[in-house]
Amino acid sequence: MESLYHSTHDTFRLSTYYSGSMTMNATPAMPDKYLVGHPAIDAQHQLLFMLFDEITLTLKGEEHTFSMEHVFASLDTYVKTHFSFEEELMKTVTYSKKSDHLQEHRALEGKVSAYAKRFTDADDVESQRTIAEETHAFLFKWLTEHIAQTDREFSSVLKKE
Ligand SMILES: [Fe+2]
Ligand SMILES: [Fe+2]
Repeated sequence: MESLYHSTHDTFRLSTYYSGSMTMNATPAMPDKYLVGHPAIDAQHQLLFMLFDEITLTLKGEEHTFSMEHVFASLDTYVKTHFSFEEELMKTVTYSKKSDHLQEHRALEGKVSAYAKRFTDADDVESQRTIAEETHAFLFKWLTEHIAQTDREFSSVLKKE
């Protein structure tokens, strides 16, 4: 099915996006309010912010937007790699809120798979749009609640040790 969110030029778009070219999709800078002060974690969070931005563009219907299929495939890889990175770091410090943080990660993972499954199962453009909007709101919540709060607090623990 050729849907509203199915991009026909992903390879070109991907290479343009990640090369930082200004001709089409310049990499958007993550706002300072989401920075946690740990360079590696911030760099990884930037990827999540880029996925958030991709959905923003997709919903606006701009010609150069990515497909939602790409967003969900990237989110799947992202949760696996980024969460395990943070969780490995947690083993190196005394961190009293570790179990809460782990619980948040598991909940986010569950939501990512649920949104991805709903999107795959959706058989009309309107349902896909609704799921894209909900995923967009979910990523915003993730940025503002998990990254700007939980991850920032964890980062301050890392800096102290
Ligand atoms: Fe994080
Ligand atoms: Fe985290």
